[in-house]
Amino acid sequence: MSEKTFSPGLAGVIAGETDIACVDQGVLLYRGYPIAELAEKTSFEEVAYLLLYGELPNAAQLQAIKEKFFQYAPLPTPVIDAIRQMPEEVPMMDVLRSMVSYTGHFDPIEGDDHDANRERALWLTSQIAGIIAARFRLMNGKEPVDPMSGLSHAAQILYQCHGEAPDPLAEELVDLTLVLYAEHDFNASTFTCRVITSTQSDIVSSITGGIGALKGPLHGGANEAAMEMLVRFKTADEAAAWIKEALAKKEKVMGFGHRVYKNGDHRARILEDKLRKLADKLGKNEWMAIYDAIKEPMVNDKKIYPNVDYPCGLTYYLLGLPLDLYTPLFVASRVTGWSAHVLEQAADNRIYRPLSIYTGPKERSVPAISER
Ligand code: SDX
Repeated sequence: MSEKTFSPGLAGVIAGETDIACVDQGVLLYRGYPIAELAEKTSFEEVAYLLLYGELPNAAQLQAIKEKFFQYAPLPTPVIDAIRQMPEEVPMMDVLRSMVSYTGHFDPIEGDDHDANRERALWLTSQIAGIIAARFRLMNGKEPVDPMSGLSHAAQILYQCHGEAPDPLAEELVDLTLVLYAEHDFNASTFTCRVITSTQSDIVSSITGGIGALKGPLHGGANEAAMEMLVRFKTADEAAAWIKEALAKKEKVMGFGHRVYKNGDHRARILEDKLRKLADKLGKNEWMAIYDAIKEPMVNDKKIYPNVDYPCGLTYYLLGLPLDLYTPLFVASRVTGWSAHVLEQAADNRIYRPLSIYTGPKERSVPAISER
């Protein structure tokens, strides 16, 4: 038995080995490839293939995964009906959590071995995109649209939301966020998926658990929370006044900080560069002034850097996407990383069961009820 160590939030604790991603101060690799190169040279479909099959696809393999995503895109009618029944006020992340679990009852894939579960990962990736789009349409009083062949995954999501093919810039930027969000080793939601898998439970249960974990504003929910913070400000001066007070009150500022990255998130730097170009192209540089008014004191005074969620929220906002869609889009991407970890955990498994330090009452005997 290894020696017992206690670390709140498992900070600094190594909980397993993985060959999927390396997350470090100096580098972020997906199966050995640096995130900056993947962001520049590959699409989400290529990254999904890399995470699930271990290598980048050749042209035929890329075409095959695109066809799979299209083949698995249609939602079962009972799932669409259930989304229709969902009360209006239910947040999209809660709809997603419920509907991923429900669509699991209409799983079209046979078997439960590695290959069958990898196929389920492709099916879930398509189903999640369809659930997001169907909910978006129904919330706006429109009927869901069928998937259109020949579209990238990013374009398919936007097409099924808006009913028209997206402009190339929106497709390019959403695809970039899907590449950046896809995988990040033992983060809270991925670790959740691995814990559920370690009991030999099923992949739908693992992915449903991952959605529950990612929802929190300390994790994936931060992209919505960061934008909820920014929309309050009309000017950079307003933002500067607010951040000064927030830091004085030791408030947590959403979209900043990271358990591993203490000198900045590689993904945030990549996305922020694209965000600045997008704001400039749209003539929305006043938004970048507000963005920087929050960022500068965090970096200069607190040495706390933006994580990927900070630039992502404003990118989606400038693309005209509603806040309720931001963390679901994170799910639409991270389901591939989660699934890769589910497959890896199942292939070399030991059930997760950490210890705890008991701080409750000393041993005592049970009094008769008349004495309580
Ligand atoms: C994601 O793990 C992953 O890889 C996650 C992720 C992924 O791809 O899966 O990268 C995605 O979840 C990114 C993080 C999104 N969350 C947020 O933006 C929420 C705001 N961030 C913080 O809650 C915090 O930075 C965390 C949760 C991200 C990290 O928490 P830690 O490692 O437990 O850090 P901490 O809370 O112990 O903070 C250390 C110090 C504290 O100061 P002291 O109490 O020691 O004086 O830094 C301060 C914190 O108060 N601090 C912040 C801050 N983040 C840390 N202060 C203000 N605002 C912040 N955002």
